[in-house]
Amino acid sequence: MNKIMINGPTMLNGDVKISGSKNASLPILFATLLTKEKIILNNVPNIKDVEITIKLLKHLGVKIKIYKSTYIIQSNKVSKYSIPNNLVISTRASIWALGTFLTRFKKIKLAFPGGCNIGLRPIDIHIEGLSKLGAIIKVKDDFIQGYVKKKLKGVCIIMKKISVGATINIMNAATLAEGTTIIKNAAKEPEIIDTANFLNMLGANIEGAGNYKITIKGVKNLKGGSYNIPPDRIETGTFLVAAAISKGKIKCHNTKTDVLDSILSKLEESGAKIKIGINWVSLDMKCQRPKSVNIITAPYPGFPTDMQAQFTILNITSQGKGTIKETIFENRFMHIPEIIKMGAKVKIKKNNIICDGISNLLPSEVIAKDLRSSASLILAGCIAQGKTIINNIYHIQRGYENILYKLKILGANIKIIK
Ligand code: EPZ
Repeated sequence: MNKIMINGPTMLNGDVKISGSKNASLPILFATLLTKEKIILNNVPNIKDVEITIKLLKHLGVKIKIYKSTYIIQSNKVSKYSIPNNLVISTRASIWALGTFLTRFKKIKLAFPGGCNIGLRPIDIHIEGLSKLGAIIKVKDDFIQGYVKKKLKGVCIIMKKISVGATINIMNAATLAEGTTIIKNAAKEPEIIDTANFLNMLGANIEGAGNYKITIKGVKNLKGGSYNIPPDRIETGTFLVAAAISKGKIKCHNTKTDVLDSILSKLEESGAKIKIGINWVSLDMKCQRPKSVNIITAPYPGFPTDMQAQFTILNITSQGKGTIKETIFENRFMHIPEIIKMGAKVKIKKNNIICDGISNLLPSEVIAKDLRSSASLILAGCIAQGKTIINNIYHIQRGYENILYKLKILGANIKIIK
């Protein structure tokens, strides 16, 4: 298995072009199953999770042609209604086959979805919502089997807990249901707005995405069309933190700044000078060490759990003490034992990560265990005093396009080794 070797410390300075959003691409790729017409998606990131999703869609009979970041997709010849284990268990996104298949093809069989092992990640809210729409869903021996007798019927669904994935699954299914569906206590993440915008471009009738209440008026079928995947807000945040912890200066191009508020305010609190433009954001630390920050992760527009590991690295190398409370996932702490190997003064109390900032991290051999913890270990390696080796690098390749190349351009001494 390949490893990443980083020689630190380096100050990261320069420009980086942000890629298309992983967490918008994945639901939109599954939403293409809702129409038999041709779809063109631009700015799709070249990452493993997209690759796995493409393999899954092709297995089902979807025709896909790829020209760099442009994907031409047509699911007029879907011929299979079950998805093999190996394709389902490697990404959480496969759960979105459920809502799309039930509403368009009325049947589906798939294994439990995979994804980062950052918690139990049950799918009860998905199943409850889709069952309220009239689907019959059985879970047996880790398989999910669903079918619809006639047509899904619009209904009012009050989500018992805010769930990005379940909100998208129900929204997708309701798009072709009979009548009107109302989702209350919906997740408000930008990726839900992106998926709704994509579906409305195809002729769906969705109002309120990004708010507490989403109203979906079912339509008979959807047309084709083309859509640009928006930039990745978590990639943007990850690079901003990389520059902040290395006391550097960075400009992120081709990004969206109106979805970064909670991240930018914490970076300013840590002493960063932030400037924003229409599609760029810059950060300048003026060669200063960041100051510690206190954070509580929360559903959007709160502070994103997907930035928790990266800000842990900011806190372990900052001036002062900082606490991050993780409220979304129960096991999103797997980077902690690894950064302790690098000399970090950090402890976990219940779901709080309590850091006492130190000025220098030690180089070490560490193990990446999920996507965002692997990003945080790369950030730590960039500022450690010597050679850091990171194992299990397939995690990072799942969610960051060309991250090594982008970091090299910023001055990092980083490469893949056997
Ligand atoms: C999406 O995961 C993202 N993944 C995650 O990003 C992100 O961290 C998460 O939303 C929260 O923002 C993708 O978009 C592919 P949830 P998802 O359903 O949909 C519980 C990354 O690093 N829950 O909002 O799985 C769940 O266990 C990834 O890019 C239930 O209890 O997240 C969690 O505690 C990681 N029952 C909470 O809700 C359910 O049926 C929020 O999960 C569903 C979820």
